[in-house]
Amino acid sequence: MRLILLGAPGAGKGTQANFIKEKYNIPQISTGDMLRAAIKAGTELGLAAKKVMDAGQLVSDDIIIGLVKERLQEPDCANGYLFDGFPRTIAQADAMKDNGIQVDYVLEIDVPDELIVERMCGRRTHQASGRVYHVKFNPPQVADVDDVTGEPLIQRDDDKAETVAKRLAVYHNQTEVLLGYYNKWAQSGLPGAPKYRKISGVGPVEQVRDAAFAALSE
Ligand code: AP5
Ligand code: ZN
Repeated sequence: MRLILLGAPGAGKGTQANFIKEKYNIPQISTGDMLRAAIKAGTELGLAAKKVMDAGQLVSDDIIIGLVKERLQEPDCANGYLFDGFPRTIAQADAMKDNGIQVDYVLEIDVPDELIVERMCGRRTHQASGRVYHVKFNPPQVADVDDVTGEPLIQRDDDKAETVAKRLAVYHNQTEVLLGYYNKWAQSGLPGAPKYRKISGVGPVEQVRDAAFAALSE
């Protein structure tokens, strides 16, 4: 299984990626998680990316494409992969085509903007694994502690209300165009075209998970 999860910031890509990667035994390639790991490691890339991410803007296409190409060389990608937060621009989607990076499905998770801010402001993350929680909608068993490792949860720097609004605007300006890009390609029926599936991301996490599983088995 090779797929792309598309959706606004806070739509639940990371949450659903955790279910999908387990079901299909494939790695989750989250460019956001990769950039946050670089920030934590204090690399030059991390330092440069932090400024851009804290401003709610997109990191340059060249950097992102380089990161993804390198990641795909690792042996765990042989069975398939799940892209979470990539591609985010037409240039990134075109680069996938140019490099022969194929996908079987594009799964769009649809959530209206009004619900996004509350989701992100209440988000808590286990940084090492990328597991995500929400103080109200998806709380950990013990407040601010990861269920699996018992390690503390953090709040992302870019989850402040004003940054969230900027990220949403960037999504509408630069990423939303990909919905049409993949829809059109899927409908073309050309060889190598992915299947396009859209599900609602509103409702309990498990309900969205079941909708995702159903969409990916059609
Ligand atoms: P990235 O980390 O990719 O962030 P994002 O796309 O903005 O998405 P989020 O991680 O915020 O949301 P999500 O959809 O994963 O939602 P989640 O499951 O966590 O990117 C961060 C930054 O890195 C970008 O701004 C950019 O600067 C840079 N970057 C990354 N990739 C890039 C690229 N390809 N090109 C250029 N720059 C790039 O859920 C959110 C919350 O809602 C959680 O608290 C969760 O518990 C809760 N929740 C989930 N599902 C539900 C539900 N059904 N009901 C209620 N609550 C729910
Ligand atoms: Zn995410």
